[in-house]
Amino acid sequence: MEKPTILFIGAGRMAEAIIAGLRAKKENEIERIIVSNQSNIMRLERLKKQYGAETVFQWQEKIHEADTVVLAMPPEEHEEVFMKLRSLVSGQLIVTIAAGIGPSKMESALPESAVSWIMPNTASSIGESMSLYCKGKKPLNALQEKSLKLLLDAIGQAEECTEEEIHHLTAITGSAPAFAYLFAEVLIEKAKEYGISESKAEKLVTQMISGSAAMLMANGNPSALREQVTTPGGSTAEGIKVLEERKYKEMIQDAITAVNRKSLS
Ligand SMILES: NC(=O)c1ccc[n+]([C@@H]2O[C@H](COP(=O)([O-])OP(=O)(O)OC[C@H]3O[C@@H](n4cnc5c(N)ncnc54)[C@H](OP(=O)(O)O)[C@@H]3O)[C@@H](O)[C@H]2O)c1
Repeated sequence: MEKPTILFIGAGRMAEAIIAGLRAKKENEIERIIVSNQSNIMRLERLKKQYGAETVFQWQEKIHEADTVVLAMPPEEHEEVFMKLRSLVSGQLIVTIAAGIGPSKMESALPESAVSWIMPNTASSIGESMSLYCKGKKPLNALQEKSLKLLLDAIGQAEECTEEEIHHLTAITGSAPAFAYLFAEVLIEKAKEYGISESKAEKLVTQMISGSAAMLMANGNPSALREQVTTPGGSTAEGIKVLEERKYKEMIQDAITAVNRKSLS
């Protein structure tokens, strides 16, 4: 089957995560990777050296050689790039990975193009993203479908959603990792209060979270797992009682709602 040539506009952390994943896992399924950014030449040079990506200062020069264009730059830069793309696209799949730029916005700027929206998360850098994605109204051809799958597989797991679902769920897959890291920070601080060294505290908290995630992956039922750990009347139950009294569940739910309120405003 034909292999896609993928052009990245934006060469930041997320573009690098995808390019690294493509090179590591999908090398034989890609024709060419071309990457460009706004001004950081050193970074382009590094991506060329490290991943064998072709680099270009003016992405407009290479657009006709690409089957798929990935917009890997900040959301606020999209409008300007859409305007430039409009007169240059000729059947390429246009994919954005920017928060808030769903297919409806893309299609109103690029009505002739097949478009997709991928919302990865920070674990993309280690190939462990939980990405959300959706497609626009125009059906993707076989090569475009292949490109989209390659991009998603390069960085981890993915679930197809509606555009509206992605707007709501980005708080959970994209922002909630920060809540999980805060949880880890608090436990590390508490362990240190008991005289444990920082490195030991980090190790035991990280492995506790990793082991709990592995149990979730194996079992998939957080309530049952919680009940297994929580003997009625036991010491863990005392801790859960404090969390319930302080309305832990409501706090987490309110935090997700706050993320969505801000991102939709
Ligand atoms: N990092 C994450 O965990 C994450 C997760 C989900 C979604 N995203 C989204 O992914 C996108 C990229 O994020 P990032 O973390 O990779 O950002 P980043 O590391 O700050 O990189 C941004 C890149 O965009 C380039 N750029 C900026 N304006 C441009 C323009 N007008 N034309 C061409 N290139 C331009 C920058 O080039 P210069 O350096 O030369 O200025 C840089 O290479 C953002 O929309 C972000 O919301 C990121």
